[in-house]
Amino acid sequence: MYKTYTPQIPASEPQRQYYLMEKLKAGLEERERQLGRPLTACVVTFGCQMNARDSEKLAGILEQIGYRLTESEDADFVIFNTCTVRENANLRVYGRLGQLKNKKAKNPQMLIAICGCMMQEEKEVEKIRSSFRHVDLIFGTHNIYRLAELIDQRISSGKTVVDVWDKEKGIVEDLPSERKYFFKSGVNIMFGCNNFCSYCIVPYVRGRERSREPKDIIREIERDAADGVVEVMLLGQNVNSYGKTLDQPLTFAQLLQQIEQIDGIERIRFMTSHPKDLSQELIDTMAGSKKICPHMHLPLQSGSSRILKMMNRHYTKESYLDLVRRLRNACPDISITTDIIVGFPGETEEDFQETLEVVDRVGYDSAYTFIYSPRSGTPAASYEDQIPDDVVHDRFDRLLALVQKKSAQAVSRFAGQTLPVLVESINDHDPSLVTGRLGSNILVHFPGKASMIGKIVNVHLQECKGFYYLGTAE
Ligand code: SAH
Ligand code: SF4
Ligand code: F3S
Repeated sequence: MYKTYTPQIPASEPQRQYYLMEKLKAGLEERERQLGRPLTACVVTFGCQMNARDSEKLAGILEQIGYRLTESEDADFVIFNTCTVRENANLRVYGRLGQLKNKKAKNPQMLIAICGCMMQEEKEVEKIRSSFRHVDLIFGTHNIYRLAELIDQRISSGKTVVDVWDKEKGIVEDLPSERKYFFKSGVNIMFGCNNFCSYCIVPYVRGRERSREPKDIIREIERDAADGVVEVMLLGQNVNSYGKTLDQPLTFAQLLQQIEQIDGIERIRFMTSHPKDLSQELIDTMAGSKKICPHMHLPLQSGSSRILKMMNRHYTKESYLDLVRRLRNACPDISITTDIIVGFPGETEEDFQETLEVVDRVGYDSAYTFIYSPRSGTPAASYEDQIPDDVVHDRFDRLLALVQKKSAQAVSRFAGQTLPVLVESINDHDPSLVTGRLGSNILVHFPGKASMIGKIVNVHLQECKGFYYLGTAE
């Protein structure tokens, strides 16, 4: 199927991968000629923004190989980039993967790949190998940059390729990547996590914390800005500990100050902030910045200091509330959002009441609420006193009701004001409207047209509808 290539495959990265992309491209073009149609690829993402960013890198490689990207799973190459943070994430993947079997029966040359956090778990890889034999490629989170090499191996061997690394290696820079939006980008500033919250599987599947060199981050954002990007989202599991392991250490606040200098970038966002490492320097930097959005995603997890200790979070209810107070002192209109887990092992009604109390006192703009899901290999999964389902669901419902009530109150504070909105899309339900976001990340819908997408427009916020606004452009 391929022309013969000299065995001079470069040994260093990323040159080696670019070489293999060229090789695959030649093969793909030949295949397209035989079939008389273009070959397509679809990347399906589960999980967090870090995974979404990885998917952009996978899409970038597939595009470089010559595939046309599509949203449809009726493609010639389908890849599932998985999440394993909670059990229900895994169940969804298996359901979707089963459906691909029929598609492959109709299109025998179809290639199916599965990668991401779930594949870092041995038992999941075994399950795919034994029960989902239509899968061609299995790899993990540490080697996504080698996608071209893995496809090449699959084609030349004709066998399923399994390549999961249990440890991270160095960071490979300068691979292709396909941005989902032309006006905003996600930029990894670090990978992995060292915190080992007792419920969480992420440190096991993403490896140890590594920060990217500031010069690489700045160069990526400068390129994005030159391409028309106005908003960057800096990504890491705990951005507040950025830079600690670099040869020349730099704080997250210092990194933000450098990014602030980049022309063309109008808005800077970041996630996630771990409360234990949020410095006063960061608060002061936010207060003095024109570009950093007044939004802090500050996961609480629980309002009970006793449970926080069992979760290994290294802060207390009081220190969390003090942090919120200092953030609001420095940035009065700041939007605070959070993540909360209900039903952690040993959580009593009193502990849960403390969570409700913090929700009541902080008044989050929004909160993601999760039912605790035991993850094998994490300490909390083997704790005694797992909470019965009916108790957890009852608490979950009460929490959600309070979160919704408080968030509707909090979000309405901007009613009647005129504020800048970055327009992101035509409204899903009404094509005469466009949808965008305030600096605080709150959604706004207003009459407009496609030419506004990617622009920052001043919008009069007429009516608050709970978690979003209806407005008119000034
Ligand atoms: N690094 C981020 C969170 C990443 S995971 C942080 O520290 O805040 C995103 C969210 O998933 C977490 O904030 C937590 O609320 C939730 N989560 C993680 N593990 C979970 C589990 N085992 N059960 C339920 N929710 C979980
Ligand atoms: Fe998981 Fe905690 Fe790391 Fe967040 S900080 S990814 S919750 S271990
Ligand atoms: Fe899920 Fe992995 Fe993100 S487990 S939440 S996709 S880091």
